[in-house]
Amino acid sequence: MIASPIISILNGPNLNMLGARQPELYGRETLADIEKSCRDHAVTLGVAVEFRQSNTEGELVTWIQQCRGRAAGIIINAGAYTHTSVAILDALLAAEVATVEVHLSNIHQRDSFRHHSYVAKAAKGMICGFGSHGYILALDALARLIKGNAEA
Ligand code: DQA
Repeated sequence: MIASPIISILNGPNLNMLGARQPELYGRETLADIEKSCRDHAVTLGVAVEFRQSNTEGELVTWIQQCRGRAAGIIINAGAYTHTSVAILDALLAAEVATVEVHLSNIHQRDSFRHHSYVAKAAKGMICGFGSHGYILALDALARLIKGNAEA
C-alpha cells in the first residue's frame, strides 16, 4: 500500500487559547475542535495530517525543517510570528514544501502591523477571514496541488 501524503498543520503562539481568546475575532472553537475537523476532512481527501501548536518560534522553525523531503504540504498559522519572524520565513524557504498560510481573522481589516506577512513570501497562497473553515479550504487547496490538478 502506498503511504498517504503528509500535510503538516503548524500553529503558532496563543492559538492554544482558541475558544477562550477574543471569541468575537477568532470564534468559539478550540484548537482541538479545529484539529478534529482537519483530521476528519483529511480522511476524505486521502491525505495524512500532523497537527501541532507551539508558543515558541524556534520549535516552529524545527518543525518546518523536519518537513523537508518528508511532508507533501504545510499549512501554517504562525499567529503573531507571521508579522515578525524572518526565521520562520527562512525555514519555509529552505523546506521547499508547498505551503498555504491561514489566518482565522481577516488580517487586512485589522491593525496595520498585521497587514504584512513574512510567511506570505514563502506561501503558494493565503486564506484569511473565514475562521476555522480556512484550515479546511487550505487542506482542499493543498490536496489539489499534491495530486497535480492545479498549477504547481
Ligand atoms: C492570527 C492573526 C494574527 O495577527 C494574530 O497575531 C494571531 C492569530 C489569525 O489566525 O487570525 O495570533 O494569525
